Amino acid sequence: MSLWEAKDIKEGPVDAKALDRLDDVAVGSDPAIPPSLTPELTEDDLGLDRSLRPRRLEDYIGQTRVKENLAVLIEAARQRHDTLDHLLFSGPPGLGKTTLSTVVANELGVAIKATSGPAIERAGDLAAILTNLEAGDVLFIDEIHRLNRAIEEILYPAMEDFVLDIVIGKGPAAQSIRLEIPPFTLIGATTRTGLLTGPLRDRFGIAFRLDYYNPEELHDIVVRSANILAVEIDRKGAFEIARRSRGTPRLANRLLKRVRDFAAVRADNDITCEVASQALAFFEVDELGLDSMDNKILEVLVETFQGRPVGLNTLANALGEDAETVEDVYEPYLLQQGLIQRTPKGRVATERAFRHRGIPYDLFG
Ligand SMILES: Nc1ncnc2c1ncn2[C@@H]1O[C@H](COP(=O)(O)OP(=O)(O)OP(=O)(O)O)[C@@H](O)[C@H]1O
Ligand SMILES: [Mg+2]
Repeated sequence: MSLWEAKDIKEGPVDAKALDRLDDVAVGSDPAIPPSLTPELTEDDLGLDRSLRPRRLEDYIGQTRVKENLAVLIEAARQRHDTLDHLLFSGPPGLGKTTLSTVVANELGVAIKATSGPAIERAGDLAAILTNLEAGDVLFIDEIHRLNRAIEEILYPAMEDFVLDIVIGKGPAAQSIRLEIPPFTLIGATTRTGLLTGPLRDRFGIAFRLDYYNPEELHDIVVRSANILAVEIDRKGAFEIARRSRGTPRLANRLLKRVRDFAAVRADNDITCEVASQALAFFEVDELGLDSMDNKILEVLVETFQGRPVGLNTLANALGEDAETVEDVYEPYLLQQGLIQRTPKGRVATERAFRHRGIPYDLFG
């Protein structure tokens, strides 16, 4: 998507459509996001993401430290009548990076223009985007680690001094001219801070890392979403979904929707703990919230390799997945849950993983 289009369809303070389409890119057609984390991703699912997205900081649940810092930064920028510093949001898929970016723009009362690293193919694309910004706007670049290097270099002076260096003509007659662009706030989102170049990372005023949500926060997210969707759910039912959402709001919302459908058919629309639990078992989400791919990873490490270290590429091959996806999408949660460890020799299953697979640890440990 080019930003020319985004600009054309701009409506109101938030360019909602551009962000929606960006979401389509992020969760729909991107091969980096495997199907098991985006189960049967229909238009419906994308609509769900949209309709449940918080608009203001006060509706954004969890990430308390990030929110507190942002609130201060936003207030300070407002008082100084200045643009907000460039921000970098990183963290695994579905934790709310895109959402938080729209929230920041809403709080600032400015427009947000959205694009993504892979969508900017030529220097001219970026120049067009930058020259079309209005003073104070937020420019959101999703998957910013996938920007190509030549384009990144155009971004440096733009971020630092709000200028564009453009070369006109070729060979000895080439001339460089400097164009001023409106002051703006760049918000970059990435699942891989590690892949960002040093110079780009350094040009962000502040980098925030979003963490997995705890069950209480996810409970609140489920209850908020249930309210919006007019779904009847009791506290324990919401908690059961929360507990099995892999720490991820997007999954909590998807599970809520699937449990709702299950309850409509089997339980008179009432989501109790028991109904939620039955529904999740039915959809093959296990006690820890692990789906089939997570369990396949544990199976490879525990059963196939019997607890020995396994290199990332070997693991990815065994799963029929690409290494980047395994590393970005699946491993972070398994690591956080203490189910696997990264060692210099490779990935290893922990005692907890053995227990989860129902295999005695001392057999191999
Ligand atoms: N803090 C939150 N409070 C309530 N709902 C949230 C929160 N964070 C995310 N969500 C919900 O989860 C959905 C997914 O969030 P979002 O699209 O912002 O994730 P993301 O980090 O940008 O993911 P990706 O890396 O795949 O682009 C949102 O549409 C929203 O409904
Ligand atoms: Mg996103």
